[in-house]
Amino acid sequence: MHPPAPDVRWDVVGLGANAVDFVYRLPAAPAIAGTFSKMRISRQSISCGGQMTTALVACSRLGLRAKYIGATGTDDNGRRIRAELAHHSVDLADAVIHDAQNQYAVIMVDDTSGERIVLWDRDERLHLRAHEIPERAIVTARLLHVDDVDQEAAITAAQIARQAGLVVTSDIDRLTPRTADLVSAVTVPIFAEHVPTGLTGATDLETALRQLRAVHSGLLCVTIGVDGAIALDGDTIHHSPGFTVHAVDTTGAGDVFRAGFIYGTLQGWPTDRVLRFANAAAGLSCTRPGAIGGVPALPEIEALLAADLA
Ligand SMILES: Nc1ncnc2c1ncn2[C@@H]1O[C@H](COP(=O)(O)OP(=O)(O)O)[C@@H](O)[C@H]1O
Ligand SMILES: [Mg+2]
Repeated sequence: MHPPAPDVRWDVVGLGANAVDFVYRLPAAPAIAGTFSKMRISRQSISCGGQMTTALVACSRLGLRAKYIGATGTDDNGRRIRAELAHHSVDLADAVIHDAQNQYAVIMVDDTSGERIVLWDRDERLHLRAHEIPERAIVTARLLHVDDVDQEAAITAAQIARQAGLVVTSDIDRLTPRTADLVSAVTVPIFAEHVPTGLTGATDLETALRQLRAVHSGLLCVTIGVDGAIALDGDTIHHSPGFTVHAVDTTGAGDVFRAGFIYGTLQGWPTDRVLRFANAAAGLSCTRPGAIGGVPALPEIEALLAADLA
């Protein structure tokens, strides 16, 4: 006997990383040797980011009811990220505070291209424990989004969600001994560009996605920066090109892409439309500084999509 379906309370519940970003804008891309091994910083700032929290703020901005599950720290950065999420109406009732420094990142942005390097650290004490995964809240959502920072928690939460019939989207951007298990646990793996070839040993993305079909029967997606995104749907490859924008800071683009993907999925759109919307949202996020700071609003995305058709 199945229990009666609980009332849906959240459009999206997200489990994963939050971070405060220490952003240094540089006149060029840094290099280990030569002219660009030493540079004067053009500008510095502190802003909120983190892949899960950026994605959830973007979802909230799109009008979705969003809830965050993860651990923040007891320091100023922990307070800062909690205030930012609350400000953007992301629910924190099941987020926990651990006695540790909050996760943070040092981000170096190249002023000429908007591309960035992310250096991060995370106190081990921020790990989410099994009893901190709020099963009752997860099953009252329409969709669960996970990343690969707390992989054990992500896999457990994904299993709970799928058992309850939820779609589980993801942000998979590292290769670890548990990556393959995380891929199997989610409904839609959304990979960073280097992951599918790294997982399979294939030399090109399309071959890699087709090889991953052996272990995952659902939609497989990968973001490819300025070139947009590629997805394998059944045995069809979709390539959705990126939007031409003036990129000033690509930090958070992958997170905003996933928020757009989640929005489109919850609308029940076909794959091509989901990818196009996600690319438009992510492209807009590149036109302004910061991860959470770059999150676009729905009318702007709709305007970019309409302009592209014109
Ligand atoms: N320079 C850019 N111009 C336009 N869109 C971009 C640019 N960089 C990234 N994007 C958009 O952001 C998405 C995510 O970027 P990507 O570089 O693949 O992710 P990440 O760097 O987070 O791994 C892309 O799929 C694309 O839609
Ligand atoms: Mg990128």
